[in-house]
Amino acid sequence: MDKITIDNAPYLAGVIGHPISHSKSPKLHNYWLTKYKINGFYVPFSVTTEKLKSSIEGLIDLGFKGVNVTIPHKTNVLTYADSVTDRASLIGAANTLYFSKSGKIHADNTDGYGFIQNIMDEIPDFDFYDKRAIIYGAGGSSRAIASALISNGIKEVGISNRTRSKAQIISENLGAKVSVVDWRNAPEMVGEVDIIINATSMGMVGQPDFSQPISRAKKTTLVVDIVYNPLVTDLLKEAKKLNLKTVGGIGMLINQAVPGFEHWFQKTPVIDDHIRKFIIE
Ligand code: ATR
Repeated sequence: MDKITIDNAPYLAGVIGHPISHSKSPKLHNYWLTKYKINGFYVPFSVTTEKLKSSIEGLIDLGFKGVNVTIPHKTNVLTYADSVTDRASLIGAANTLYFSKSGKIHADNTDGYGFIQNIMDEIPDFDFYDKRAIIYGAGGSSRAIASALISNGIKEVGISNRTRSKAQIISENLGAKVSVVDWRNAPEMVGEVDIIINATSMGMVGQPDFSQPISRAKKTTLVVDIVYNPLVTDLLKEAKKLNLKTVGGIGMLINQAVPGFEHWFQKTPVIDDHIRKFIIE
């Protein structure tokens, strides 16, 4: 695709983090910018914690519409926001900032939205209402997913983490529907849930394999992996062998980017198979 000719007032957005080279967001947003021939740029910025506030102020002064936020700023950035959405507040972290014309900063977290939308894309008639889920992992992704599941009517969420205390904190923060499942008891608990979610980094290229057995899963259970590289993880392969429904992680990564792109560049991007493969090449 040819890059369009740029006029003097392009839409500007980007991503701030430290380090930033791992981020897939520039590739994703610039793919859509080119595809839709939008007069805009999406730029990665390496920003240290000391420079976080001044960098955001500088981007606002330069006319940026907003930015994505990644490690290590997702929590700190809430301090500088003029308004925070309920979901970002509940998760305690933001991944998307919108700058208003008057220079105000609005913080949102679209990770949970990306998780739910990915499942809806793959299994359009899936209903979370009255279901039970187990989430492996207790990092930021786990917290965003648990919170989104609750907003979508889930009955119970069990969180199982190698370091139990982190699961305990999420359970205390998110209320009665969220409980802790001991890491050793999880393989048994799997037989009682409707959704199994890997929100750890296990199974990612260069990381250890997902270590928890899922052989007790019910025939109707859905297995979701948030790991997107490889596209089909060993956990998903195992689930497919057991004839379970599966959803991979790449769609979550892509979907979490959609609200920002819509807002900054005034266009709703379509998610197709090409972008799914292109993004991890
Ligand atoms: P994110 O922000 O994507 O959620 P994170 O905060 O780094 O990422 O969380 C990674 C999760 O993967 C954690 O729950 C971590 O478990 P610990 O809290 O015990 O560290 C989990 N994890 C990573 N490697 C793991 C492994 N080899 N075995 C079990 N859990 C692992």
